[in-house]
Amino acid sequence: MNNLDAGLPDIGDAAGAPHGYDDDARSAVYRVIAERRDMRHFRRDPVDPAALRRLLWAAHHAPSVGYMQPWRFMRITDVALRTAIHALVEEERLATARALGEREEQFMRLKVEGVLDCGELLVAALCDGRDRHVFGRRTLPEMDLASCACAIQNMWLAARAEGLGMGWVSIFDPHKLAALLRMPGDARPIAVLCIGHVDAFYRAPMLELEGWAARLPEGVLMGENGWPEAAA
Ligand SMILES: Cc1cc2nc3c(=O)[nH]c(=O)nc-3n(C[C@H](O)[C@H](O)[C@H](O)COP(=O)(O)O)c2cc1C
Repeated sequence: MNNLDAGLPDIGDAAGAPHGYDDDARSAVYRVIAERRDMRHFRRDPVDPAALRRLLWAAHHAPSVGYMQPWRFMRITDVALRTAIHALVEEERLATARALGEREEQFMRLKVEGVLDCGELLVAALCDGRDRHVFGRRTLPEMDLASCACAIQNMWLAARAEGLGMGWVSIFDPHKLAALLRMPGDARPIAVLCIGHVDAFYRAPMLELEGWAARLPEGVLMGENGWPEAAA
């Protein structure tokens, strides 16, 4: 079986843990993980406001280091702002292409964002004043970013279950985006989130379908009592 057809894991029998979900619910969890895709192709139809609220609910129920809940979201409804965000992404897309050297042309052929087409555009940012949060961050300050990523992943999964596509765009200069959106203090944007209806979800990661990268073999993930052997 190749990676593109990897499909769903065999959910087997419930592990016998007393608090496990029933088989249908367990299947739904693995299904949404398998079928979530980073989307760049959207239809322009509006997103149901109630569905958008549910996605934000999902984000806000993510785990976070020291329960700091560092995520902040900005909904972009102003067309001029959306256009300006797209311009920042385009500027960085060209810089990224140049930095890629021999893969420049291949990168330029990839679609890496759907900023102008999606029904809803959100910007996700780390809140300001994060230095005062040291619980779980004294030696690993980047755990604020990890927490925010958990929130975005929750949204991503909820969006897939709702039949909505979502794309995480990180191709922008965070200082310029923070200035454009007048973010306070040390707040830092980490994602431009494109959300909306799609004609179809890619059947595999688009970067895999386009031959940019492939999923790593599972042996790379996990070692027993040491670093995974296959990664060595
Ligand atoms: C932190 C993060 C940043 C990302 N930034 C971009 C981006 O700027 N442009 C893009 O096309 N995809 C971006 N992606 C999506 C990845 O390309 C995508 O997750 C990966 O190719 C696997 O595809 P899948 O999400 O459909 O499984 C980002 C994903 C993550 C987790």
